[in-house]
Amino acid sequence: MKRIILVALAVFLVAVCAQAFADHGPDTVVFPGKGKLGSVTFDHLFHHEQGTECALCHHTGVNEGQCAECHGYDPAAPHIQDAFHLLCIGCHKHKRATTECEGCHVN
Ligand code: HEC
Ligand code: HEC
Ligand code: HEC
Ligand code: HEC
Repeated sequence: MKRIILVALAVFLVAVCAQAFADHGPDTVVFPGKGKLGSVTFDHLFHHEQGTECALCHHTGVNEGQCAECHGYDPAAPHIQDAFHLLCIGCHKHKRATTECEGCHVN
């Protein structure tokens, strides 16, 4: 009986830990940018700590791979520049965060 309780407790703890360490993705993501424009360093951790729903950005699901796997390749998906500017600058306007090119494209 004691043994069963211990096993149940262990299973419970493993489940709790798995939940706590669920994949929240990378802390930061660096997009290379292009030409004269600098790369964009996106603080992933900071943005989701703001309480933004994962699905606002990961609109096809968090495990669907990188944005560029569709945006830029799948003709049904708008080009990455248009999609990202709409998403990122759209919220920044609303929240009064940076909308300057150099605010994101750090040279
Ligand atoms: C403000 C937008 C935004 C929010 C909110 C957000 N993410 Fe992300 N996430 C991104 C972007 C952009 C990337 C980089 C994808 C790429 O490399 O193309 C990313 C990358 C990831 C990756 C790595 C994917 C890969 O294949 O490399 C995971 C996992 C992830 N996010 C999980 C989450 C989870 C879980 C949440 C919610 C708790 C969340 N994200 C909230 C924008 C966001
Ligand atoms: C809120 C952040 C943000 C702001 C502000 C912003 N951008 Fe971007 N921009 C991005 C992101 C993220 C990408 C996609 C990253 C990539 O493709 O390297 C991107 C992509 C681009 C691209 C395409 C690069 C490529 O790889 O094809 C161009 C060109 C561009 N931006 C120009 C501008 C200009 C010009 C401004 C100012 C008028 C500006 N951006 C303001 C975040 C921003
Ligand atoms: C599996 C393919 C796929 C992936 C992965 C994907 N997208 Fe999309 N995305 C699409 C398609 C297709 C559309 C156009 C149809 C729609 O709105 O659903 C779209 C539309 C969008 C739009 C709306 C653009 C507009 O003009 O209304 C935004 C913003 C966007 N995606 C951002 C992202 C971001 C950010 C990521 C990565 C975190 C991402 N997408 C990952 C396929 C994808
Ligand atoms: C749901 C709203 C929202 C979305 C979507 C969003 N951001 Fe932000 N972002 C913010 C807020 C709020 C801040 C913090 C403003 C402050 O406190 O100064 C911020 C800050 C930043 C900063 C730091 C700016 C500075 O002044 O130092 C960068 C860079 C940035 N975001 C890039 C991005 C990129 C790239 C995307 C799209 C992949 C994105 N953000 C999408 C809300 C958002």
